[in-house]
Amino acid sequence: MLDPSPDDEREPWSSIRRCAEGEGVLPGFAYADEAVYRAEAELFRRHWISVACGHSAPEPGDVFPLRIHDQSLLVVRGEQGELRVFYNLCRHRGARLIDAPCRVAGSRIRCPYHAWSYHLDGRLAAVPHFHRGAKVVGPDAEEAAELGLLPLRSAVWRDIVFVNLSGDAPPFEEVIRPLDERISHWSAEELSPLSSDEVELRADWKLAAENFLDVYHLAVVHPQIPGGFSGALASEDVVVSPGILGVSMRQGYGEGSGQEAWTLPRFSALTEDERLRIEIFCIFPNTLILVEPDNQQVIVLRPQAPGLTRQTFANYLVSDASQVPELADERAEIYREAVEINEQDLKLLAGLQRTRSMSVAEFLRPAEAWDDINLRFQRLWAQEFLAGG
Ligand code: FES
Ligand SMILES: [Fe+2]
Repeated sequence: MLDPSPDDEREPWSSIRRCAEGEGVLPGFAYADEAVYRAEAELFRRHWISVACGHSAPEPGDVFPLRIHDQSLLVVRGEQGELRVFYNLCRHRGARLIDAPCRVAGSRIRCPYHAWSYHLDGRLAAVPHFHRGAKVVGPDAEEAAELGLLPLRSAVWRDIVFVNLSGDAPPFEEVIRPLDERISHWSAEELSPLSSDEVELRADWKLAAENFLDVYHLAVVHPQIPGGFSGALASEDVVVSPGILGVSMRQGYGEGSGQEAWTLPRFSALTEDERLRIEIFCIFPNTLILVEPDNQQVIVLRPQAPGLTRQTFANYLVSDASQVPELADERAEIYREAVEINEQDLKLLAGLQRTRSMSVAEFLRPAEAWDDINLRFQRLWAQEFLAGG
């Protein structure tokens, strides 16, 4: 009979350490355990993590609140279209400022507790009876500057909003450069937002990241994707940098299949070969991005509790020409397909969460020819997890 070895009590995370050293898969509890979840927050503090998409707050004055682990944050679109990220916390007595995405009235973020209000750039704007006089006098300029919202170090890349909670990760440009160069022909300047949805995933975020890199499942879970296994068979793993893992695959269709007719505009600088490629990446830890000749998809994974994740699921088309009324049906169809595929994955992952987190999962046998990139992800997670402990 199989008898899974209990984790060593003297070294509670010994099975994670074995995985970090390249021996075996992550233990089941790494996907469900409360203590692992809490310790993992440290890993999320140290790295550049994505928290939202810019399209979630498209116009000046739009605000998008979110939670990732126990951090409550606020993405704010400023007067000039610039994005900032603040803690979603009033400087007075710490009330949550915004509880649902909205456009704030009068370009002011107003606290629901005692009505302190803030400019979109975070400066304190007004305080009722700040000095407790009969006259309504606000804070002076110095007080206003000092009592502004608390900002986070942030960066926006291809419409994805990243933050670094610890403040001491290497510069974002440095971290992203290898991927930015690799997919430069899928030009960020040409992106045109199609949709941005908030979705609940009843599984640990790591299972979603692994699934995104797993091309082996595509023909099985998503039989509507044309070409069967052919796209996956012609794929190759890509390690862009130690923290950016991916897969490059050919479209399952192309010349001669009768499905090569593109109706939506494609990125203009693609080479002949790139016009048939799908590039899929995980920017460790929680950012998933896929580029195709005529679209980009982004999934931001925000851990909420052990086994519970929220996704921002965003889709982009190419160039403003894709937004013309004549292409309404094509837009609706590409969105419908993307949602259908994501829903198939959500369902699969919710089931996987229940079984993959069992202790007998240590007896799993990854398929050598397919699962290398997944094992790399698990190893990377194990190493980064232990580095923070
Ligand atoms: S807590 Fe926000 S105004 Fe008092
Ligand atoms: Fe899938």
